[in-house]
Amino acid sequence: MVWNSRVAKVAPFRVMHLLEMAQAREASGYDVIHLEVGEPDFPSPDPVMTAGQSALSAGHTRYTPAAGLPALREAIAQHYKHHFQADVEPSRILITPGASGALLLASQLLVEAGDRVLMADPNYPCNRHFMALAGAEVDTVPVGRETGWQLDASLVAAHWQPSTRLAMLASPSNPTGHTLNADALQAVQQAVRQREGRLVVDEIYQGLNYDDAPLSALSLGDDAFVVNSFSKYFGMTGWRLGWLVAPEEAVEPLTRLAQNIFLAASTPAQHAALAAFTPECREILEDRRQILKKRRDVLLAGLSNLGLAPDMPPQGAFYLWLDISRYSRDSQAFCEQLLMEENVAITPGIDFAVQGGEQFVRIAFTTDVARLEDAIERISRFVSRL
Ligand SMILES: Cc1ncc(COP(=O)(O)O)c(C=O)c1O
Repeated sequence: MVWNSRVAKVAPFRVMHLLEMAQAREASGYDVIHLEVGEPDFPSPDPVMTAGQSALSAGHTRYTPAAGLPALREAIAQHYKHHFQADVEPSRILITPGASGALLLASQLLVEAGDRVLMADPNYPCNRHFMALAGAEVDTVPVGRETGWQLDASLVAAHWQPSTRLAMLASPSNPTGHTLNADALQAVQQAVRQREGRLVVDEIYQGLNYDDAPLSALSLGDDAFVVNSFSKYFGMTGWRLGWLVAPEEAVEPLTRLAQNIFLAASTPAQHAALAAFTPECREILEDRRQILKKRRDVLLAGLSNLGLAPDMPPQGAFYLWLDISRYSRDSQAFCEQLLMEENVAITPGIDFAVQGGEQFVRIAFTTDVARLEDAIERISRFVSRL
């Protein structure tokens, strides 16, 4: 069978093979430490759970409008006002099935066959796959310490071509955890504007910032497309709820796309998410942020003794992007061997980097400090044998 040629551009997640191996080892009685999947161990916060249960009891199980519950769009607009000093009209906010739904809408609206898209390498692979599925060619630009592991204005200028339509950022980034500061973000935005392009900013890890206050591209203007989600900071991965903030003129065509592609996001999930903005919930989420910061610091300290700490500490998300080249040039083999010998599951860099992923791995700090300390000991034993 010959499938649509765009599907050939979508690579599988190599980590799924590792996850299967890890599960098989667990089934055989091994104690596996899971640091591979991008999902912390916390349950959804209690206020969200209660609101979700009440929504079901109250019978909120029918479609909402395609762009989402008006009260939720309003709550998100208030969130931007209070925490980011950004004035965002609720009409510019579309509620989607996860950030994934927002990325699908944005990619379908913004690019078509023959268009080019700029993205940092390494990146979250689904972002480039969404663009490829919409027919675009993705130009991945290798980044490193010099530009804070992000695209900067000079890279945008150097790699922009006549058929480039948009640049895409993710801040904090998956897999590096690095963020753009306000000046860097503004400079990229300016470089894109000068070229009459569009900027898409994936802010799904917003709020999981450990050193500086979180930032939104929405504080710097209203022409960027901003993707966000209830998955990460709000701890609601399985509810499948996110949002897209778009310039006013894009709302009508995006709503048409939403009506046709998914009709609306999950209704009970939208009602539950209203509770995510209460002060009670915020307190829980901020406590969790502190827990994640502590985990990051424990890992950084432990791994630096092994010569494995990242060249810059990540400012956000819950990942470390580690150069393993002093031990291996084959990240898949390194991860498989670490799993088979020491029962620690981490992700090979080839899932995220188009170039150079063989010498990187991603560790997610998605388990408690005691388990992370155990993982460091196991990794230390493992690399001492290499
Ligand atoms: C950078 C980035 N964007 C988007 C997503 C999609 O998240 P969701 O659809 O759960 O909101 C993820 C998930 O890990 C991610 O890391």
